[in-house]
Amino acid sequence: MGREIIELRETDITTLQVDAIINAANNSLLGGGGVDGAIHRAAGPELLKECRTLNGCPTGEAKITKAYKLPCRYVIHTVGPVWHGGKDNEAELLASCYRNIFTLADEYTLKSLAIPAISTGVYGYPKPQAARIAVCESLTATKQYSSLKHIIFTCFNEDSKKAYEEALK
Ligand code: AR6
Repeated sequence: MGREIIELRETDITTLQVDAIINAANNSLLGGGGVDGAIHRAAGPELLKECRTLNGCPTGEAKITKAYKLPCRYVIHTVGPVWHGGKDNEAELLASCYRNIFTLADEYTLKSLAIPAISTGVYGYPKPQAARIAVCESLTATKQYSSLKHIIFTCFNEDSKKAYEEALK
């Protein structure tokens, strides 16, 4: 159990028709580059409007919005840690992102989620370590939450894909 629910896909997360896609946002929740920029562009300006009402998000936490023009139903915005070498509680904060995503998903009875490699772009978290945390927390969640049926890890480059493949072994 667990592993059959988890899938790797090399794709743009904004194209996926899942219950929720996850956004790797920043504390302001007011948009940015990377996957955050792509999600806001595809969702349209209504998403930013709703995000303005949320008063930001602390690192390690998560907030949910509607998805507007995206083909998914919801966007769960989380803020990963910036990598400072690993002695700044980064691993715990990244794990906390995943736990809060799954808690919200359960509250909304979401079955399918697509998750990008949080923190591994601009925020510089090493991809192999980040993938291990993503896989570990996801496996725990599939056992803990019965409504969760499908998790897609989206990879946007070969390095991310390799990191997930290794972590899933
Ligand atoms: N679909 C799937 N994955 C993507 C996409 C996409 N369309 N675009 C990028 N990625 P990053 P972070 C991958 O930098 O490190 C933003 O400016 C990308 O290859 O988006 O958490 C926010 O506003 C990488 O593997 O997020 C914050 O300020 C992963 O998504 C800051 O960046 C995450 O890269 C957050 O940095």
